[in-house]
Amino acid sequence: MRYRPLGRTGLTVSEIGFGAASYWGLRRFPEAEAVGLVHRALDLGVTLFDTAPGYSRGEAEPRLGRALRGRDLDRVVVATKAGTFHAGGGRTGRDFSPPALVASVEASLRRLGVEQLGLVQLHGPARAELNDDLFEALERLRRRGLVRAFGANSFDPGVIEAIIAAPSLDVVMLDYNVLRPERAAAIERAAARGKGVLAGMPLAMGHVDGQLAKLRGLRDLWYAARALKNHRQEVRLARRLGFLRHDPRMSAAQASLAYVLSHPGVSAAVVGTTRRAHLEANAAASGQALPPDLAEQIGLAQQG
Ligand SMILES: NC(=O)c1ccc[n+]([C@@H]2O[C@H](COP(=O)([O-])OP(=O)(O)OC[C@H]3O[C@@H](n4cnc5c(N)ncnc54)[C@H](OP(=O)(O)O)[C@@H]3O)[C@@H](O)[C@H]2O)c1
Repeated sequence: MRYRPLGRTGLTVSEIGFGAASYWGLRRFPEAEAVGLVHRALDLGVTLFDTAPGYSRGEAEPRLGRALRGRDLDRVVVATKAGTFHAGGGRTGRDFSPPALVASVEASLRRLGVEQLGLVQLHGPARAELNDDLFEALERLRRRGLVRAFGANSFDPGVIEAIIAAPSLDVVMLDYNVLRPERAAAIERAAARGKGVLAGMPLAMGHVDGQLAKLRGLRDLWYAARALKNHRQEVRLARRLGFLRHDPRMSAAQASLAYVLSHPGVSAAVVGTTRRAHLEANAAASGQALPPDLAEQIGLAQQG
């Protein structure tokens, strides 16, 4: 596994991070399997674990806490979010007021079983919510030693620029993958300002690998339902990259990760998985260069 600095935070993270979210966190995914994946990730050298209070109906964060309990976390960056929460019945609530953020961080520390969080990211703030009152609350949490670094996550270009411009935010998490080359310029601007950059959805939710065509069990039905509800555009765009599934040198997922990591501004790609073989293949993508002919083919496909 290779490691990169997380911007100017002083933290170093594995190029491949573990996304403790989605199906991985749900109760219907057996606890022993979920915990086993975290332990395997640690063995493979993964040092970045990303979750959120609201992920997986509120189950992902406490599950990650249970999985990390008793492990050597010296080099591990436990990253969570604030500003959103599971509001019951599968709904997500949001509250970016300073008292709510402070309460959220304190509750995350308890659920994750750590004394300090490596990274806390504001989870999809609106531009107007990124204000001085909020930044002062973050700085107070930092001074109390509860959080090393702050960031924010957004898929909205205007909000991404506001995050990059905010001195209190050290990290930006955005949706960067072979289907989203337009994010490359923002990543360059973020890196130039010393921000760490986390690529969420680096496999475009698995659609680069033809996720929808592989119905092997319950979890794939769950992924398919999510795709039909929220990600039809990714499914459509991914068809153009079908050639990645037939390259003998690397899998489509590995090519996608190599593409994301070939941007020097990216600190890590955070991948969600429920399968050990996928986790191992993703870890093996660290350090694998994207062959120039594949990079060229991807560029042509991106132009449509
Ligand atoms: N803050 C936000 O708003 C936000 C939004 C999205 C994502 N994120 C972060 O980014 C992380 C990643 O997002 P994500 O999990 O939704 O999307 P993703 O990492 O782009 O894709 C996950 C999907 O890809 C599949 N997959 C993983 N490795 C694979 C491999 N080697 N070969 C084939 N398929 C593979 C997984 O299925 P299997 O289970 O079968 O492996 C799953 O369906 C999240 O866990 C979260 O931490 C944040």
